[in-house]
Amino acid sequence: MGEIKEIKDLPGIGTQGAEKLFKANYKTLESIAVASPMELMEVAGLGDKTAEKAIKAARDALEMGFETADKIKKRREKIGKLKTGSKELDALLGGGVETQSITEIYGKMSSGKTQWCFQLCVMAQLPVEKGGLNGNVLYIDSEASFRPERVVEIAKAQGLDPEKTLKNVYVARAYNADHQMLLAEKAEQLIKEKNIKLLIVDSLTSQFRSEYIGRGLLAERQQKLNKHMRQLMKMAEINNIAVLVTNQVMERPDILFGDPTTPIGGNVVGHASKTRLYLRKSKGPKRIARLIDSPNLPDGEAIYQITEKGIEDI
Ligand code: GTP
Ligand code: MG
Repeated sequence: MGEIKEIKDLPGIGTQGAEKLFKANYKTLESIAVASPMELMEVAGLGDKTAEKAIKAARDALEMGFETADKIKKRREKIGKLKTGSKELDALLGGGVETQSITEIYGKMSSGKTQWCFQLCVMAQLPVEKGGLNGNVLYIDSEASFRPERVVEIAKAQGLDPEKTLKNVYVARAYNADHQMLLAEKAEQLIKEKNIKLLIVDSLTSQFRSEYIGRGLLAERQQKLNKHMRQLMKMAEINNIAVLVTNQVMERPDILFGDPTTPIGGNVVGHASKTRLYLRKSKGPKRIARLIDSPNLPDGEAIYQITEKGIEDI
């Protein structure tokens, strides 16, 4: 067997199989390597043995599977830290928003979630020495709240050319939950072509929440959300990009003392987000971010403000 460089080189696939997979949005070896045999059987009509073999060959070609710990260390050394514009916030985050995992920000209306998205759209484009990721941004907007004018203001405050900054942000509007998931799938290809370093989903849950109403549909909603989160997680890891998702909140009726505010999506979202921040509004432009259950950082809060320049220290 020759060297495996693309999908058509996989055993049992060939040009025809590769075409079918391409149409179903499997365009890279990575996308095959992280697929399940069931998926490939369904979307491309592969036999179960062929699907299994193809996945295994893709994993081998990419050297996925068991790997020695020194390689993991090497990959972790590549984790980038995207600065937010506030030193307080960066310190809370252990240096900034990390690549290779999902960062979730949740909070009530007007707590500043979308403002964070605009801010990071700009910050990601800064050179690494200035706290950026020296890359471009994919923005999935499910609430029609993307505002280029606001990105322009923040870009100016960071000393960037506003027009260039806008050209580096690829925005797609998600019209329903399935469409949102499809956009995330399509992102895979664009990430490589356009030097994407940050993927934003604002909001992660609102479409799911409005489509799957009531207890009867909760299980289905959670399964879909789970799939979506895994998709995003894989993308973060494989491509060494930062993924920022926003989440809405609800009031838990069973909490009588303390803050009953809790993010949507339960454990499905909670476990997939490596870093979770709870955003609250304070007086005027003042905002508070609280780090929730981080595996490697101390819990704590940071106070910052949102002004016409974007996110800043007070
Ligand atoms: P929902 O999407 O409704 O759940 O809210 P959100 O958390 O996304 O809130 P968003 O990020 O849209 O925050 C809105 C708040 O940010 C406003 O109430 C303002 O306080 C602040 N803000 C938004 N735009 C500007 C601006 O141009 N200048 C200043 N100074 N503040 C702004
Ligand atoms: Mg918003």
